[in-house]
Amino acid sequence: MPDINYIDVFFSLQAFQEEELRGKSAVIIDVLRASSSITTAIHNGAKKVIPVADMSDAMKIATTMDNKDYLLCGEKDGSKIEGYHLGNSPAEYTRDAVRNKTLIFNTTNGTKAIKKASLANEVYVGTFLNQQSILNALKEHDDEVVLICSGWQGRLSIEDTLFAGSLLHSISGGHLPDSAKDGAKVAFGLFEKYGHDLEGAISKSDHAKRLAELVPNGDITFCCKVNEFDVLPGMRDGILKDLNG
Ligand code: MLT
Repeated sequence: MPDINYIDVFFSLQAFQEEELRGKSAVIIDVLRASSSITTAIHNGAKKVIPVADMSDAMKIATTMDNKDYLLCGEKDGSKIEGYHLGNSPAEYTRDAVRNKTLIFNTTNGTKAIKKASLANEVYVGTFLNQQSILNALKEHDDEVVLICSGWQGRLSIEDTLFAGSLLHSISGGHLPDSAKDGAKVAFGLFEKYGHDLEGAISKSDHAKRLAELVPNGDITFCCKVNEFDVLPGMRDGILKDLNG
């Protein structure tokens, strides 16, 4: 387990420079909804997920592949991108849709955060759905760990911060020492306040409000489920695969 004093929390993908992650490991968090969709897709048999930072990268990768092998996936400002096969609702990532496919994944904040973390020792994608897998993986770490909340265009998101707080709560056994980092204290404190009713807190979040007119109601409820899937999306050569698989 990493020393609790060496676990930091960054509250948006704009809060760090790539170089800062050298020698550390990272958990990328985008509860609503990139982490949740990627985790669901991998659980349902997607062969690999290639996170990209923008549409042009997605198209470049797609042109190198056979049409039947890949799906273009993701959203811009919450809505499916025109011409893409799938949007960013976890409900779309069924076994029928994704089994044995390579997903080229492009989202507003989440996949940008994953790409930006590529210099880290290990990069995991985490959310409430695969919380225990993330905790199990972190037990093997003695390097510094950064919990990277993707946020929304540079701003803090309560749902990502709550998941960081939930991890810290488990790792510290519910007692965070005063010596912990500032970011850890903020995330832990938020979880202490709202952790008893994740869905209640997250359904009132800024991003849930943003998504309200755009996505099925069920997305928020689904993304608040804890320990649904035993998968560990982790980066290998720029590609996310199930490291538990
Ligand atoms: C993102 O990457 O910003 C989110 O996953 C957006 C969304 O909810 O679709």
